[in-house]
Amino acid sequence: MKRMLSGIKPTGRVTLGNYIGAIRPFVSYQDEYEMFIFVANLHSMTIYQQPAELRKNTKDLIALYIAAGLDPNKVTLFLQSDVLEHAQLGWYLGCLASMGELSRMTQYKDKVAKGEVIGAGIFNYPSLMNADILMYDPDYVPVGEDQKQHVELCRDIAERFNSRYSETFKIPEPLVAKVGGRIMDLQNPTKKMSKSEETSKGCIYILDDINVSKKKIKSAVTDSESYVHFDPINKPGISNLLEIYSTLTNRTIEDIEQQYVGKGYGEFKNDLAEIVGSELEKIQTRYKEITTGSYLDDILEAGAQKARFVARKKLAKVERKIGITIKKR
Ligand code: AMP
Ligand code: TRP
Repeated sequence: MKRMLSGIKPTGRVTLGNYIGAIRPFVSYQDEYEMFIFVANLHSMTIYQQPAELRKNTKDLIALYIAAGLDPNKVTLFLQSDVLEHAQLGWYLGCLASMGELSRMTQYKDKVAKGEVIGAGIFNYPSLMNADILMYDPDYVPVGEDQKQHVELCRDIAERFNSRYSETFKIPEPLVAKVGGRIMDLQNPTKKMSKSEETSKGCIYILDDINVSKKKIKSAVTDSESYVHFDPINKPGISNLLEIYSTLTNRTIEDIEQQYVGKGYGEFKNDLAEIVGSELEKIQTRYKEITTGSYLDDILEAGAQKARFVARKKLAKVERKIGITIKKR
């Protein structure tokens, strides 16, 4: 079985964008791959997190992964902070990355361009992500479009390490879904649907009240034409809704376009609102069951143990190769 790994930050509430771009694909991969999925809580610290909120978001995230269909018996599900080896390997890999490489990362560059006061964590962030990935030798790293650049840097760093110290890390491939990799804001479809947005009308949260989520779909911004057609440049709003429709129903965009020939946006949006509503309802029901009792704590402890087993071996290997370990085995 090929191995797959990905992480998701527990910052803010989980959105439909996260669900379609990240969580749902994981669920579809779990029977085909050996999977490691973790909550990147160390990464979330690059921006101040109100402690109580961080705790709640972390718990919700794990619960939502499971509620969305991830099976903890198939997938190794853990918290990044439970496996101390990540931070240590992150340090070594940070020493291999150049200032230039890290400065070219879009996420960092955007923040600098906006003139925001930023912590050093934002700059070092990719090195920790490199450690998260290389620790487990995954074949594939499923990520959203915005994270592809980080995985590409990860490949460069892995190659650099391997050529300097001998073959140690597998070179991972980023895996960006063709459809659903970038779900847009419902009110401003030229912008990514994001949990950090101030106004929430354009963003559906997985734990939104069902009626609220339906309303958000029905009041999504479209255009002045009235035919349902996929054209992200000229019809970004309707194209975004088509993408949501297509991913949630596993139907092709062409097939859906066909169904709405000669019908207006109203009918299309009403149908999509029902589809989104019933998807959220399923997840929310399961979420409520999972979040009672100690179920989540037990899952995380078991996941951390499995992850630590792999991480310890890998870190020991790295430390022997680079000369940090001085004792004979
Ligand atoms: P973030 O919410 O930025 O921490 O991202 C968590 C994961 O969800 C990453 O794999 C993102 O690329 C993905 N993601 C976040 N927002 C969207 C979106 N609007 N559309 C598709 N994928 C997304
Ligand atoms: N940087 C990712 C994000 O912002 C989260 C992340 C951290 C991650 N470590 C990772 C994703 C390793 C994939 C693999 O969404």
